[in-house]
Amino acid sequence: MNSEVVYQIFRKEDIDPLLTDTGNALGLPPEAYYTEGAFAFEREHIFKKRWMAAGFASSLPDVGSALPVRFAGWELVFVRGGDGKVRCFHNICRHRGTKVVMEAGTFKTLSCPWHAWTYGLDGKLKATPNIGGQGVHTIVELDKETHGLSEVKCDQWLDLLFIDIGGEAEPFADYIAPLAEALREFDLSELTLGAAGDRFEVKSNWKIVIESGIEGYHLPVIHPTLRQPQRYDYSVGADTYVRQAQNVVNYKNSALGGTLGKKDDGPRFRKFPHMQAVWEEDGPLPLLHYYLPPSVVISVLADMITFALFTPLTPTTTGFTRRFYFIGDSADSPELADLRASVATSMDAIGKEDMAVMENAQSVLSLRKELEIPTRFSPYWEGGVHNFQKFYLNMFR
Ligand code: FES
Ligand SMILES: [Fe+2]
Repeated sequence: MNSEVVYQIFRKEDIDPLLTDTGNALGLPPEAYYTEGAFAFEREHIFKKRWMAAGFASSLPDVGSALPVRFAGWELVFVRGGDGKVRCFHNICRHRGTKVVMEAGTFKTLSCPWHAWTYGLDGKLKATPNIGGQGVHTIVELDKETHGLSEVKCDQWLDLLFIDIGGEAEPFADYIAPLAEALREFDLSELTLGAAGDRFEVKSNWKIVIESGIEGYHLPVIHPTLRQPQRYDYSVGADTYVRQAQNVVNYKNSALGGTLGKKDDGPRFRKFPHMQAVWEEDGPLPLLHYYLPPSVVISVLADMITFALFTPLTPTTTGFTRRFYFIGDSADSPELADLRASVATSMDAIGKEDMAVMENAQSVLSLRKELEIPTRFSPYWEGGVHNFQKFYLNMFR
């Protein structure tokens, strides 16, 4: 932890009780979850300093596809260029600064809605119509070369688009390597998008949303249709992820993931090759969560991967959507269409079940600050949440 930075925003006496074993630890102070000050500080000292997932490449299917995205106050736009590569720009016109792309769509060029300055798919400024008077489209004072859309570093891992807003994070390959290494047993080469959930906005701080997604403690209370996994391992992968590994027993009868329904009641998704035998033997199957702060949880099951993308919007609102990836023809075969759709629908329903309690917890944060009521953890169930909170402190640069 970079104490010099962390103690600029939080009091030492509020932070130090987190840095002990999970059963004795007290959680992050409430003000971390609602104040403009904490959010602004996160923006400067976390969000600007690291790779963050911010979109899906599959949302940009064609050359010219453009997708505006808001992220913690930044207005960004992803654009698939003529070379097939997805780029990210600040979605701000270099003339008098309106947002250039207002809605997702497919474009030949990006034209500003105010005075029609026009940018190429590579962000370069191509045209400044009538800038020098009627029919005069250039002026010597303005160099088009230096007035393109301001580019944000962008890279891709599977379907996830990552951005580095400050431009000074480590090379992307170095950032993602620990995750790729952790998943080496899983053959990811045949994964394809097969289902998409709805987009939600939750009236909760991004950290509350994350914390609710990486513990199984609440499952029997909030999600009675889900089987509660047995946790077996919590760990942290370098500066990249917080991992929570669980076993799902009696998975075939679980309402979780691609195994809705009973053992023999219809077609099934293909399993990752090394999972097939475990499945046939009715063994415990893995449910692995890799949380890459601040914005994505990657869940790995025996027959699919899901990406839950969280977008911090304001101190007290977070966008949320989920995508589901299946192996080979399980992603598009017609006989699995109903199963794929039901996976997305049931996970959305589960997400909605979480929203009420997240908003409930959000609503009393300032009161908890006043009353000095700290967070406690279950060491059995909430090692991942505790690891995340420590990881959070380590992210301040
Ligand atoms: S503000 Fe974009 S063209 Fe004027
Ligand atoms: Fe939940």
